[in-house]
Amino acid sequence: MNLIDNLKWRYATKKYDNTKKVAAADVAKIVEAARLAPTSSGMQQFRVLVISNPELKEKIVPIASGQQIVADCSHLLVFAAWDKYTEERIDNIYQVTTTERGLKEGHFNDYTNRLKAVYLQQTAEENFVHTAKQAYIGLGLAIAAAAELKVDSTPMEGFNNAALDELLELGEQGLKSVLLLPIGYRDAENDWLVNMKKVRNAEAHFATYIQ
Ligand SMILES: Cc1cc2nc3c(=O)[nH]c(=O)nc-3n(C[C@H](O)[C@H](O)[C@H](O)COP(=O)(O)O)c2cc1C
Repeated sequence: MNLIDNLKWRYATKKYDNTKKVAAADVAKIVEAARLAPTSSGMQQFRVLVISNPELKEKIVPIASGQQIVADCSHLLVFAAWDKYTEERIDNIYQVTTTERGLKEGHFNDYTNRLKAVYLQQTAEENFVHTAKQAYIGLGLAIAAAAELKVDSTPMEGFNNAALDELLELGEQGLKSVLLLPIGYRDAENDWLVNMKKVRNAEAHFATYIQ
């Protein structure tokens, strides 16, 4: 099996078998794929919370418009992004990079000054539009990694972000929720979507090759 076959296999699972749990090693690989995502200016503006606690998952059902998949899944991944850019956040990440690469102190000063000139004059809302985009890249890679492991998943935007932020106390960490990704194993007998054809734009309509 290769990536393309596995992407054809996966679908936005609508019904999970709540008796089946994803092994910790596979959860870790899915999270690792998200961690390895490229991000704008390498700032790694998002984090992932991995929820397996049954009571907490149950509390998220009403926040997710009653979508039972957030409780029936094995693990619920919450992608959360920086609520805004700050001078400290930009400096911190470049300090880590400078240290880890053994570069001279101040190596990135010109670059971080340019980043600050762009982002610190924007509103927090404008900043969050940008940081949230980075979480989507992580989500895509996590979905692909799950498919490679034959773990089902469901990308989800359909939830009340503010209510989830409050429940998980994300504001205290300077984070706001962006996306949910339940992972687990399909309940094939009860999932209306499992046997439906995957529908995508025809290749000829999707890609334009300019030579
Ligand atoms: C960003 C995003 C948000 C989505 N939100 C939801 C959601 O809240 N609930 C849901 O059941 N499916 C959700 N989906 C699943 C899509 O409907 C699904 O991916 C799309 O119809 C393509 O089908 P497939 O993933 O089965 O190939 C979402 C997908 C994406 C990428």
